[in-house]
Amino acid sequence: MYRVLVTRRIPGPWLDLLKRETEVDIWEGRDPPPRSWILSRVKDKDGLLVTLTERVDREVIDAGVNLKVISTYSVGFDHIDVKYALSKGIRVTNTPDVLTDATADLIFGLLIAVARRIVEGDRLIREGQWNLPWYPEFMLGKEVSHSTLGILGMGRIGRAVLRRAKGFDMNVIYYSRKPHDVDAKFVDLDTLLTESDFLVVTVDLNQETYHMLDYSKLMKMKRTAFLVNASRGPVVKEEDLVRVLSEGRIAGAALDVFEREPISSDNPLVKFPNVVLTPHLGSATRETREKMAEIAVKNLLNCLKGESPLYEVKL
Ligand code: DGY
Repeated sequence: MYRVLVTRRIPGPWLDLLKRETEVDIWEGRDPPPRSWILSRVKDKDGLLVTLTERVDREVIDAGVNLKVISTYSVGFDHIDVKYALSKGIRVTNTPDVLTDATADLIFGLLIAVARRIVEGDRLIREGQWNLPWYPEFMLGKEVSHSTLGILGMGRIGRAVLRRAKGFDMNVIYYSRKPHDVDAKFVDLDTLLTESDFLVVTVDLNQETYHMLDYSKLMKMKRTAFLVNASRGPVVKEEDLVRVLSEGRIAGAALDVFEREPISSDNPLVKFPNVVLTPHLGSATRETREKMAEIAVKNLLNCLKGESPLYEVKL
């Protein structure tokens, strides 16, 4: 029987299938397993099922001398040294598609929340500060419909955001490595930054996109524009974002991802009323997380059996 290391419990019945077909060694905590646990347990394993919080670098890959597959319970694979794994003949798999709609829904939720000051309004009521009846200039936000949405990246999630934007009659522009056959205008990065009312980040994190949005780029945004990021925190240089927010150079931000997660309550982002924060919830619906579990398990089993996985990471 193949031996498999699983670094976290996953929703739905799929772990049971894995347990029927392989010998499973699982970390039962909700917190990430200590690195020493992974390094010692991976030694005799044929497969590794990880989440995005585990760094699968050369050291882990070298420790897993029998590894045939690394299956990540995520679409993102920036936590895995894929090049090194592939060079050692280890297959790497992920779980795209099934989380596209959930993530695009959250992005739109964040966008509307920050534009229409939903969280601020909720807080105001709970704090007993709603003291005056309706008046014309109270808590004015930014109109979402008919405004210009800039999408950075046009992969699966970018397209799903675009579909939603059409329902809001938004004017959509996008920038990605190459133009795509989509109903939106392809522009260069500077145009994206200078023309968007809402700039939505949907690119993967890699060497090219690390700190892609730094001070000089963020300063090109309109003063009235909002940044929305639910991809990976390090695409935006967080200290630079704090700086442009402090200087009032953009209207606000809605963030589901951060350079280091979890962020603490003394993170400077927490003090801005015009920033909406969620704790990396992009794919966090029961339906999506169960589908991700199904795919992660099937990917792993297929690879162990020498069959094609449902999704494979190739460079
Ligand atoms: C992923 O799968 O990469 C997401 O960030 C998890 O929501």
